[in-house]
Amino acid sequence: MSLDDLYKETILDHYQHPRNRGQLDDPDVATRGHNPLCGDEILLSLKLGDGVIDDIAHGGRGCSISQASASMMSEGVKGQPIETAESLGAAFREMMVGSGATDGLDGNEDLEALQGVKKFPVRVKCALLPWAALEEAIETWRKAPGRS
Ligand code: FES
Repeated sequence: MSLDDLYKETILDHYQHPRNRGQLDDPDVATRGHNPLCGDEILLSLKLGDGVIDDIAHGGRGCSISQASASMMSEGVKGQPIETAESLGAAFREMMVGSGATDGLDGNEDLEALQGVKKFPVRVKCALLPWAALEEAIETWRKAPGRS
């Protein structure tokens, strides 16, 4: 199997069998990521006890890339300290729109599969959509009254 085929298969698997799909009851923070170019959206809900992403769920509707990316992201950050999730997000951006390096992804092969999308620049925004929603969710949580 070529690397391209492997990438496609991984993306398709997450699209068809999304991990952590749904909505959490009583989340600590919830956000909506929106791609104005197409109208697609990602709804994120998170449980953030003690600075750790105890639980995360994603919903909404969107293209296969945005949905697969949300599934991969949720798996990558669930159970991780917020700072680790942020580092992973930064590393993902580095791969997608920076130098292209993948070393910051810590061997997360599913996330690496999305680099195949870079051949289609318009779809890069789709892959980044869930991560932008996560960044917003974390920022909202940090700014909540009583925190800091
Ligand atoms: Fe809308 Fe991909 S085409 S997020």
